[in-house]
Amino acid sequence: MDITATNEWRKLKHLAQGHQDLNLRTLFEQDPNRVDHMTFELGDLVVDLSKQLVTTEITEALIALANKAGLVARSTAMMAGERINTTENRAVLHTALRAPHRTASQDCTNKTNNEDGSGSKNVAIEISRLTDRMASFCDQVRAGKRLGASGQTIKNVVNLGIGGSHLGPALAYEALSAYRHESVNCHFVANIDSTALHNALKELDAASTLFVVASKTFTTQETLTNATTARKWLTHHLGEEAVSQHFLAVTANTNQALAFGIDPANCLEMWDWVGGRYSLASAIGLPLMLAIGPSQFQDMLSGMHLVDEHFATTPLDQNVPALTGLIALWYRTFCDLPTRAILPYAESLKLLPSYLQQLEMESNGKSVRSDGRKLSYHSSPIIWGDLGTNSQHSFHQLLHQGTTIVPSDFIVFAKGDFNDLDNAATHQQQLVANCFAQSSALAFGRTAQEVAKIAADPKLVPHRTFEGNRPSTTIISQKMTPAVLGQLIALYEHQTFTQGVVWGINSFDQWGVELGKSLAKNIAGELATNPTVHPQYDPSTVSLINHYQKLANTN
Ligand code: F6P
Repeated sequence: MDITATNEWRKLKHLAQGHQDLNLRTLFEQDPNRVDHMTFELGDLVVDLSKQLVTTEITEALIALANKAGLVARSTAMMAGERINTTENRAVLHTALRAPHRTASQDCTNKTNNEDGSGSKNVAIEISRLTDRMASFCDQVRAGKRLGASGQTIKNVVNLGIGGSHLGPALAYEALSAYRHESVNCHFVANIDSTALHNALKELDAASTLFVVASKTFTTQETLTNATTARKWLTHHLGEEAVSQHFLAVTANTNQALAFGIDPANCLEMWDWVGGRYSLASAIGLPLMLAIGPSQFQDMLSGMHLVDEHFATTPLDQNVPALTGLIALWYRTFCDLPTRAILPYAESLKLLPSYLQQLEMESNGKSVRSDGRKLSYHSSPIIWGDLGTNSQHSFHQLLHQGTTIVPSDFIVFAKGDFNDLDNAATHQQQLVANCFAQSSALAFGRTAQEVAKIAADPKLVPHRTFEGNRPSTTIISQKMTPAVLGQLIALYEHQTFTQGVVWGINSFDQWGVELGKSLAKNIAGELATNPTVHPQYDPSTVSLINHYQKLANTN
């Protein structure tokens, strides 16, 4: 189906012609109950959509479009294990990872067809087997019973992984710092720049360090290079035989992991039906489980599951991920707003913008539909952001008075993570006040008339006027907990899915990263071996390679 040829699409196009006239001040005046009917509770999250530049008519039209695109059927197909990742012929079952524990004898909806089409396999059994293995491993490490090769307890865990094999566990490790075990520290090395590994290893003792090589494919150059160097560092200190006790792998490519020298007992399985950027609930979450323990990890899964259930069963007009996804799509596709900012007012969520960049832009940064036809409309916006309040002192000037409207997400908590400092409650109040002040100023601004009343110099009136009318969502919860983090992540996952369905794209492949990977492989060979460059590259690349050779080979 060509979604742009539907009446639902046409209606939104028509409504979008008037979107410049929509005004938040007026919308709030016209409907005194706007806040009530646009504020939703989702588990422990309160999600206020009232400051979004949408009317009931627009929301209804967006829901009609989602229905036309078959959103509910697509989400049912995803959760039932259908191979909706068509370009890779894979099921997409991250929701099964967080479904309540099931035993082999119980029926389970989370099934995926075997590749040869010979019936279906119950993934829940494999999941619970793996979760038990992860939990028993983590319990041993946390209890100081799992020892290194020279008999020392494991105190440091270094995760070697990138993209989805890095961002989820790194985000969650930071987010849940208040829940961490006091003597198991995790370090995350993603970049192939050796400075990253250097910085992680410089204060570590090999005898008490465990490496987790996290790579679904076990072919990712960054991760394998880091793993090879880390292995050399370890064997330099402890000898070759220490590798089996100090290296673990999380991968769907066990053969490659074994070839690298990982002990078969230390290989934790991944499956092709878990996408990298959707994999925190899989064994990719091992460093997090080591840090917070199996029971808190389970709480995070329960939080995710709560949102999965909500997304699967709630009518679209009350379905929070569907609504936030559709509003984001409205701005990008119909109002031509190119970016969206993520503004967590919580130090613990400092990695959320990076995490969501991969989730949304790797999922929906596509120019063709699932059937290969070119899109005639915009898909994923550029996702960016930073921590409030820091961001207020860098880019909020543009959010308030710039020429581009940037829809923003504010995320804030009523209580802080730690209360050990005397003034902690005051800090939190000021943090929350700043968050509320920003979204209010963005939405309602300050008119020239209002400024004129307080400005001594009339020439400053235009400079001090705030147009307002800049939309945002605010998500508030009492406190960051594992369950709350799970809810937030699942909310964004399903929001991303919703948009992908309406755009008609495959949100679960990432072919766009392949060209750079293969070019880098060739160029690396060139840099390592060849003083004169083969002219197979473009002139700029040839020139840069020549500069590199000169700079790298002179003192
Ligand atoms: O950047 C592409 C990508 O494939 C991501 O989708 C993935 O999360 C990341 O690389 C890491 O992949 P792997 O876990 O296979 O090393």
